[in-house]
Amino acid sequence: MMRASIIGTGSYVPPRVIKNQDLERMVDTSDEWITSRTGIKERRIADHETTNEIATKTAKNALKAAGISPKEIDLIIVGTVTPEMLFPSTACFVQAHIGANRGIPAFDISAACSGFLYALDIADKYIRAGVNKKALVIGVDLFSHIVDWKDRNTCVLFGDGAGAVVLSGEKGKSGILSTHIHADGHYWKMLYTPLCIASSPFHNKPLENSFLRMQGNETFKVAVRTMGEVCQEALDHNGLKVEDVSLLIPHQANMRIIKATAERLGLPEEKIYINLDKYGNTSAGSIPLALDEAVKKGVIKKGDIILFVAFGGGFTWASAVVRW
Ligand SMILES: CC(C)(COP(=O)(O)OP(=O)(O)OC[C@H]1O[C@@H](n2cnc3c(N)ncnc32)[C@H](O)[C@@H]1OP(=O)(O)O)[C@@H](O)C(=O)NCCC(=O)NCCS
Repeated sequence: MMRASIIGTGSYVPPRVIKNQDLERMVDTSDEWITSRTGIKERRIADHETTNEIATKTAKNALKAAGISPKEIDLIIVGTVTPEMLFPSTACFVQAHIGANRGIPAFDISAACSGFLYALDIADKYIRAGVNKKALVIGVDLFSHIVDWKDRNTCVLFGDGAGAVVLSGEKGKSGILSTHIHADGHYWKMLYTPLCIASSPFHNKPLENSFLRMQGNETFKVAVRTMGEVCQEALDHNGLKVEDVSLLIPHQANMRIIKATAERLGLPEEKIYINLDKYGNTSAGSIPLALDEAVKKGVIKKGDIILFVAFGGGFTWASAVVRW
């Protein structure tokens, strides 16, 4: 059976580190509050690099790890809600900047923090169907561009970063075993960022600021419940028990959400990969960034069952199970 195998991972974060103590000088907050409520200690912030540049660096790192030429890639999908332009898509810029072939499909997916798993789901289906052989799947977000740096409720939570995988269609037992993607737009007001575009002479929409808005408490509750449910759905689909999971790589939004999800599943803490202390919530970047770090650290071994789970604005939520 043809499966999409992950043959390379890559990531990139901007070099500038903003610690909780730096935020203490910007808003009425404290390292103690941020650490105890979220687990975040610091985050990376892009002070000159753009989404396209960060996505391109990430893509090059993943291709290098996979040991293949960009000419072998025949599909590029980017999960992002902070593109540099409304169009062309980030994926089109990446295609041009890495020197991928003309004519291959390249497009972005908007699913907020679930964006990477949504993109992975689509690429997996193209590969399983035999339409494409080698896909580049990227998750990238620069939330520093959309948060209100005067709003302590939100600005302390996010950071900039990206990760990517190269998928290859291969016969065998390893690779992506399943993906599940979901959404419920009734919850849109819990977490959203309006678009700030000039009103036309025909449509006098009042201009509002385009900062991210969030109802943190409600988002927290739905995230814990939903992430637990989608993990269980993934395990049931594959006939797996929680003991079969070697590593859970969750969306890195909040330590308390992650721990509560693992508790619901009955998964011990040592089987969860966490790096949000260093990066905060990097939205679509968070899962592939954590995966790349885990791979580089040698945490993942051949044959391991890796469970990925994400939750984000929309609301959207998603899972993937990979046999390494
Ligand atoms: C945002 C979040 C950390 C807040 O934690 P919480 O325990 O729910 O805290 P509350 O919202 O009850 O706020 C408690 C108090 O802290 C204050 N507070 C909020 N942000 C603060 C900050 N950065 N520093 C200090 N105090 C802060 C609030 O104003 C509130 O004060 P009040 O009681 O005087 O009104 C938590 O709700 C959360 O993580 N939600 C999910 C957010 C998320 O992950 N979104 C992305 C999903 S992909």
